[in-house]
Amino acid sequence: MREKQFMPVALLAAWLIMPVVALAQRVPAYPPSRQIGSVWFEMTTLDELAPGSDNWPLTWAADGHQYTSWGDGGGFGGTNVDGRVSFGVGRIEGGARDYRCRNIWGGAGLPQPPFGGKSYGILALGDTLWLWRGGDASDETLYEFRELYRSLDRGVSWQPAGVRFDRREFSDTLGVFALTFLQFGRGYEGARDGYVYVYAPRATSLEWDVHTPGDVMLIRAPRGEIDQKNAYRWFAGADGAGVPRWSEHYNSAVPAFSDPANGVMRTSVAFNAGLGRYILSTLHVSRFREHDGRLGIYDAPEPWGPWTTVLFANAFELGLVDFSKTVFFNFSNKWTSRDGRKSVLVYTNRDNWATVESEFYMRGECLKVGHRGASGIFAGNTLAAFAGALEQGADMVELDVHLSLDSQLVVIHDNTVDRTTGGTGEVGAMTLAGLQKLDAGGGEKIPSLGEVLLLLGSRCGVNVELKGPGTAAPVAGLLSRFVRGKGIPWDNFLVSSFDHARLAELKEIEPRIRRAPLFGEDLPEDFIAIAHGLGAWSVNLNKQSVTADLVDRCHREGLRVHVYTVNNPDEIARLKELGVDGIIGDYPDRL
Ligand code: G3P
Ligand code: CA
Repeated sequence: MREKQFMPVALLAAWLIMPVVALAQRVPAYPPSRQIGSVWFEMTTLDELAPGSDNWPLTWAADGHQYTSWGDGGGFGGTNVDGRVSFGVGRIEGGARDYRCRNIWGGAGLPQPPFGGKSYGILALGDTLWLWRGGDASDETLYEFRELYRSLDRGVSWQPAGVRFDRREFSDTLGVFALTFLQFGRGYEGARDGYVYVYAPRATSLEWDVHTPGDVMLIRAPRGEIDQKNAYRWFAGADGAGVPRWSEHYNSAVPAFSDPANGVMRTSVAFNAGLGRYILSTLHVSRFREHDGRLGIYDAPEPWGPWTTVLFANAFELGLVDFSKTVFFNFSNKWTSRDGRKSVLVYTNRDNWATVESEFYMRGECLKVGHRGASGIFAGNTLAAFAGALEQGADMVELDVHLSLDSQLVVIHDNTVDRTTGGTGEVGAMTLAGLQKLDAGGGEKIPSLGEVLLLLGSRCGVNVELKGPGTAAPVAGLLSRFVRGKGIPWDNFLVSSFDHARLAELKEIEPRIRRAPLFGEDLPEDFIAIAHGLGAWSVNLNKQSVTADLVDRCHREGLRVHVYTVNNPDEIARLKELGVDGIIGDYPDRL
């Protein structure tokens, strides 16, 4: 009897606790980056190859090409079945937008390699290639050993280099797995010192998934002694001045990166020379969509930290991955711009090779956006106000559009002309010619969107707010014509709206136009999910809703924060201190 009563009580308790656990927000282990505000992935640049093959760690050799390894497929030109190997090696020639890939060791069109396993780390020192091989096949032997291989013929053949870490060497855990090299420039140019650095997540299970707690160990060896096992030293913490200690004993090793709550999986680290930051990418929580897999991107001034968070987002919701599971992400140093801001992420999307162009936005660089132009001085949404915004140094102007009776895009805020002109009536009930007879203030007329775009060219960005119904398709059409006909870049435009369905329609018609959902004072709980659903570049928020935590949360979700409508200098200073990315105000010169 007692026992019968006990069970429902326990179930009730579990039922009460569960939603709390389920709703608990996953947070990253490290504070927000103070250097990098956020990172953006331009999904319309997604390029996919090699269906069936995954991982793709990259290195950049002195010959100017990139080398990579893949797992469980035929590599370039193969499929999941055709040419399938446990792991193979390929070469990538060319630039980010015109690259060519081919298999050089294993995979479609080439003989079966003499051994299998997995590799998540490849390194070019000059033109000599090195890679870490783990296990004999795609099975639990992955956790048995990691062994260094060398290629003296640019990846065509591979020989053991005499360094091997066996599981039985690691008394406290299963040891480390998925060893990967820290990447510098071409052929290892720009290296911080005379060492090679190897990151090695600690294995805590035999699962092919995130390992929790998630510790990433760091090992280094002098570059000239990479093939001498006794030359390897483990990172053993840093002193008060940040000077690292190195130990020959794994037992003294201290993780260089750790996320006890969310775990880590295969990890990559590349030094971004333009930014002067080490960029670490890894998976958290789970590799599976249904288990809330997260992509984490971190930056640090040294290979061992201190790390700060750039991105901590569900890679699937972000739109980066549309497969049910994913495994590996790394940035290409060859395809990173000199200033470090633009790069290319090479990763596994649908169990394949995928590249997508990315951009890092710096914290503290806040766009000056002229609200309806310089509407504090000129009549808003007129050519005079937009010219005034240019003069006041605006990076972007914001304007509102409606459709006229004759289906022309007109720049006016309200859906009637009553407040801003001497006339009366609905905008949608009047032709463009009729609307342009009215005085929009100071003798200015209501401009068409085309007239504004002609005036501004690419001298400043344009944030078009879709106010009236039926505006998404014509705005997409007009902006596309300006890109094609006037050579204005897609990223000159941002389209926002409180009506998110209009933005979804715009995305469907022309995904290259950046989108920004607008939100009012009451920010809905699911605003991040709404933004991700739209593939939004920024969220445009009411100043009342913006707090430090909110800005940090948006940033780690890969979303920029633009705030409207701010004219008070103290408020402007407060928002800049919070690290917002754009302020929309009537006086651009105050921003
Ligand atoms: O786009 C930001 C802001 O303009 C939204 O409000 O009423 O000024 O269009 P409103
Ligand atoms: Ca507006």
